[in-house]
Amino acid sequence: AKVLVLNGPNLNLLGTREPDVYGAETLAGIEANCHARAKALDLEIEFRQTNSEGQLVDWVQQARGTFDALILNAGAYTHTSVAILDALKAVQIPTIEVHLSNIHQREEFRSHSYISKVAVGMICGFGGFGYEMALESAARLLTKK
Ligand code: DQA
Repeated sequence: AKVLVLNGPNLNLLGTREPDVYGAETLAGIEANCHARAKALDLEIEFRQTNSEGQLVDWVQQARGTFDALILNAGAYTHTSVAILDALKAVQIPTIEVHLSNIHQREEFRSHSYISKVAVGMICGFGGFGYEMALESAARLLTKK
């Protein structure tokens, strides 16, 4: 099975970005851990990051027919993007939402997620390890089918 891991704005800065909130791990480090975990789970993955909302919409649209599941950390677009929500609704690919931080412990505006409206589930508060948890969940989801 093929899983597309998508990362939104500012996640390219992980490692130096608010380390008190997001930890010292870089996105490249998280990607490496994801590849190792995917291999162990017999999943094929592609790992991408963009700062642009439209690019995320394009990637979600293009995933139809190619990927069996999505893992999505949409960054701040989580809280604002009806466009990404609509793209997810259109493609109907099972999506697992991930956030490094516990979004419910932070500013009020981070508590609401458009992605959660359609996600199978959401993992937050476990840092980069959350991506590995999401891969485990995707593997379980896809073999149950
Ligand atoms: C985030 C949480 C968002 O509120 C924030 O805008 C991010 C990162 C997280 O992974 O914890 O950019 O998605």
